Amino acid sequence: MEQRVLGRTGRQVSVVGLGTWQLGADWGSVDEGDALAVLAASVEAGVTFFDTADVYGDGRSEQLIGRFLRENPDSGVVVATKMGRRQAQEVERYNLDNFRAWNDRSRANLGVDTLDLVQLHCPPTVTYSTDRVFDALDTMVEEGRIASYGVSVETVDEALAAIAREHVASVQIILNAFRLKPLERVLPAALDAGVGIIARVPLASGLLSGRYTHDSVFAADDHRNYNRRGESFDVGETFSGVDYDTGVEAAVEFSALVPAGTTPAQAALRWIIQQPGVTTVIPGARNVAQAEANAAAASVPELDADTLKAIAELYDRRIRPQVHDRW
Ligand SMILES: NC(=O)c1ccc[n+]([C@@H]2O[C@H](COP(=O)([O-])OP(=O)(O)OC[C@H]3O[C@@H](n4cnc5c(N)ncnc54)[C@H](OP(=O)(O)O)[C@@H]3O)[C@@H](O)[C@H]2O)c1
Repeated sequence: MEQRVLGRTGRQVSVVGLGTWQLGADWGSVDEGDALAVLAASVEAGVTFFDTADVYGDGRSEQLIGRFLRENPDSGVVVATKMGRRQAQEVERYNLDNFRAWNDRSRANLGVDTLDLVQLHCPPTVTYSTDRVFDALDTMVEEGRIASYGVSVETVDEALAAIAREHVASVQIILNAFRLKPLERVLPAALDAGVGIIARVPLASGLLSGRYTHDSVFAADDHRNYNRRGESFDVGETFSGVDYDTGVEAAVEFSALVPAGTTPAQAALRWIIQQPGVTTVIPGARNVAQAEANAAAASVPELDADTLKAIAELYDRRIRPQVHDRW
């Protein structure tokens, strides 16, 4: 699979990585066997980048990855984790003592001495202008606890503030055919600065696969059931902030634009990886079939100019009014 340098980490990662929130919690249940099979199938298909977080299943996702790494010591996978959301969201808590404690826990979960990449996990906005936080992250690198650090952001303004920080290696942001705003300023700024871009929620929580209908039912412990209006965390993380029924109808139109031989989910991933400035896209997968199909998106033909134009027009008509000015 095509590899790209992940910004200031200097590490090569596959253009299609794997998001592992599903292997923790919040997406209905994924049993341990299926979770380990998803990791193995992804690597088998050429994936060399996993995204996780200390909070996914309160450590379950990290622990499963740790087990996979132990059992596959030569996998060559770069693992990005996140820290900061197992606590109240107050900037004072983003301090060196807490960073060290969170880092000890993630290193134990993952079974490594040094984390490849740790991302602040959508911290409060004031964090981006707080020098002490980034000084503490520099200290973590000096101590050998982390090789590099980045930030997972909610808004384009936060992304631009993170990119302006001298040692931020990567920015993780929602970017998909239903979330176009990062194309305007974030991707060009990241390219200029040499900061990696990790595109999350690439399928708009599955909407862009075109599989869901107005009547689809999601499990009670699936955020697509319990966070549709942002009841538990930022609503932008659920269906990319698009109202569900609007999203279902727009996904039908999106599916009609997809070239023969490519599935809508693969076209959605292909759309992302051909945007200049994107390093890697991290679809979540709940089973082996999804993991394999997503990895295969790296080798489907590029979308042509007419298709790109039609996707932008669909966004302008159906999605932009709901999301463009929010994040
Ligand atoms: N704040 C943050 O930093 C943050 C927030 C959100 C996500 N993330 C990261 O980004 C990753 C990706 O985002 P996401 O998982 O939220 O959303 P996503 O990748 O847009 O959607 C994942 C869902 O899409 C469906 N799907 C996946 N592959 C498919 C395929 N080939 N064909 C049909 N359907 C497919 C599955 O739905 P079903 O479950 O219905 O099968 C899956 O659960 C996460 O796993 C996580 O690592 C980070």
